Amino acid sequence: MKNQVGEVDLEVKNLSFYYHKFRALKNLTMNIKRNRILSIIGPSGCGKTTLLRCFNRIHELHPKNRYEGEVLLDGVNILDRSVDVVRLRSRIGMVFQKPTPFPMSIQGNIAYALSIKGISNKTEVNDRIEKALKKVGLWNEIAHRLKMDAFELSDGQQQRLVIARALAVEPEIMLFDEPTNALDPLSTSKIEELLFELKSELTILIVTHNMQQAARMSDDTAFLYMGELVECNETNSIFTNPINKLTEDYVTGRFG
Ligand SMILES: Nc1ncnc2c1ncn2[C@@H]1O[C@H](COP(=O)(O)OP(=O)(O)O)[C@@H](O)[C@H]1O
Ligand SMILES: [Mg+2]
Repeated sequence: MKNQVGEVDLEVKNLSFYYHKFRALKNLTMNIKRNRILSIIGPSGCGKTTLLRCFNRIHELHPKNRYEGEVLLDGVNILDRSVDVVRLRSRIGMVFQKPTPFPMSIQGNIAYALSIKGISNKTEVNDRIEKALKKVGLWNEIAHRLKMDAFELSDGQQQRLVIARALAVEPEIMLFDEPTNALDPLSTSKIEELLFELKSELTILIVTHNMQQAARMSDDTAFLYMGELVECNETNSIFTNPINKLTEDYVTGRFG
């Protein structure tokens, strides 16, 4: 059964993460709520990317990386070895800072993602491609060029294609690591609007070093500092009435 709006979607319990011997995340505990946007902020190197990557277990590409603690999704610890990573990644999609289209056509990018999930029926594939491209506002721009190489798109369009590719498999949660960092202001505001629309369907986590972006877009904000979670609360309180002095200093630009 799906969680309701505002209910806890991901429950992070005493999560620590080690790059071999280096402990990059220290005992984080937080609840991430359904159909809301959570910003993860903090100075460079504080562990934002590391945290995001725990949620779809990308860290496992390196055998010396290690988790401690739990991340519960529907009561199941997704860090547990018995959880199927391919299925997990279709439930929890991820978009990176630099657009990462596959070296194939626009439609090929989405069809490939669908094929991993076992969807290959031609009509369904075409329907899903159209639906996903419409959702990210690309359909009108590129409907007549679906066979074009994805790298021929602008950076902003590539990022929207990558988001469409992730959405096509209907994830429940989407992770964005500084998704507008490499983009111009117009493409940035298109992506921001898109994420805002998407939250009625999904739970969204976004890493950003842009304080205005966090304040503008997110319902909740988590502030990390040197691998620790200093404060996680409604965005409004983090920015106007933070509990911790460190949070206040960071959001008012005294360091970072
Ligand atoms: N692959 C890695 N191996 C070892 N240490 C890493 C690796 N990636 C990141 N780190 C370290 O982990 C800490 C957190 O990094 P990161 O999560 O990338 O920070 P942020 O995204 O907040 O800038 C930093 O001290 C960084 O140097
Ligand atoms: Mg980072």
